[in-house]
Amino acid sequence: MKRVLTLAALFVAIAGCSGQNAPVNNEPVNVQSLAGSAQITDVRPADALPTYPKRGTAIERNYSEQPPLIPHKDDYAITLNKNGCLNCHSWDKAERMKATPVAKSHTVDAKGTLNGHNYFCTQCHVAQADNKTELVENTFSTK
Ligand code: HEC
Ligand code: HEC
Repeated sequence: MKRVLTLAALFVAIAGCSGQNAPVNNEPVNVQSLAGSAQITDVRPADALPTYPKRGTAIERNYSEQPPLIPHKDDYAITLNKNGCLNCHSWDKAERMKATPVAKSHTVDAKGTLNGHNYFCTQCHVAQADNKTELVENTFSTK
């Protein structure tokens, strides 16, 4: 009997929390961001995913000393202890991963030990993608 009562109490508690009877606040909240304005009560389909050029196809460089553009997604973690980019681009792994090893200018010795200035790869290298969603305007010019 005690068990039944406990279960019943639990059921009431859960039903109470489900929010079915709670007053719904329909006031839209306007959010302004670089992506434009939106109301957080709006329901819309997810943005289309960007498509990246194929792996193995380097993108032509536009000017000398340009950090080459990244032809793949760039969300590999770069933290103090771990650099996801080096899983493929470090000198000892690049050949096996069919990736270009980091430039000699990024290293300090003959083993390819990374120079501290070149640790945060995405500070200079940016990914290129065919984005289906509108991007933030960019006025960068090489001239
Ligand atoms: C899973 C393996 C892998 C990881 C992880 C990876 N890459 Fe790559 N990357 C490749 C491959 C394969 C290519 C295409 C071959 C090439 O051009 O190096 C490439 C190409 C590139 C290029 C173009 C090189 C050129 O000469 O045009 C850059 C720059 C680059 N990656 C930077 C990065 C950065 C920065 C990260 C981390 C955010 C990263 N990669 C993580 C595999 C990887
Ligand atoms: C301070 C800016 C900067 C940072 C940070 C940086 N790079 Fe570069 N990277 C460059 C420039 C500029 C070049 C082209 C000139 C050269 O080869 O030195 C280059 C060239 C490259 C190349 C092409 C090498 C070749 O032989 O064609 C790869 C691959 C690369 N970087 C990967 C990386 C990875 C991975 C990281 C992070 C571990 C990184 N870079 C960090 C600026 C940077």
